[in-house]
Amino acid sequence: MTQDELKKAAAWAALEFVQENTIVGVGTGSTVNHFIDALGTIKDTIAGAVSSSEASTERLKTLGIEVFELNNVDKLDIYIDGADEINAHNEMIKGGGAALTREKIVAAVAKQFVCIVDDTKIVDTLGEFPLPVEVIPMARSYVARELLKLGADPVYRQGVVTDNGNVIIDVHNLKINDAKQLETQINQIVGVVTNGLFAQRGADKVIIGTQNGPQIK
Ligand code: A5P
Repeated sequence: MTQDELKKAAAWAALEFVQENTIVGVGTGSTVNHFIDALGTIKDTIAGAVSSSEASTERLKTLGIEVFELNNVDKLDIYIDGADEINAHNEMIKGGGAALTREKIVAAVAKQFVCIVDDTKIVDTLGEFPLPVEVIPMARSYVARELLKLGADPVYRQGVVTDNGNVIIDVHNLKINDAKQLETQINQIVGVVTNGLFAQRGADKVIIGTQNGPQIK
């Protein structure tokens, strides 16, 4: 199977976590696009979705799935999203698609976070994938200088504006031994909206697309 077929297998396997008549939290990315397609096949059994990006909202609406504002939803049983890297503690790097802030907000509200990945996303140590940081535009240079002090290499993601009107700095060459601590430390830099470490709120379940079929852990 190709990497995309592994993503698709993990995404479709996530349907078993979706309860009837509930609102489903939906992430962003190519793996989630497969999940949205799967959700389309059971759209008449769910109440609708809360989305983490304009891109996912558009795909959900195209399939006829109602998208609710998060502020109008008082509880969310489940959030389903991909990851760029995930370790054995279910801590993740996310934000390759620049949707990290809204993803983190929806994940915070949800009772259960189900992460769907192909097996290339499983790592021993987070940090080979550059860590995305969403930044208020006027703070870009300041935040980059502060990130340099971590001994890492911040790189401005040219030409990308997030759904919130901000910019992304990708932090290269981080070896992340304490993801929870680093998540807090980077979020304390003034001008940072949030960073792509999902460690304090990690995944509760992971569905991994493998050559032997989807594995749930
Ligand atoms: C989007 O901002 C990200 O957090 C995605 O969840 C992550 O990049 C995984 O994307 P793919 O499913 O496209 O690999």
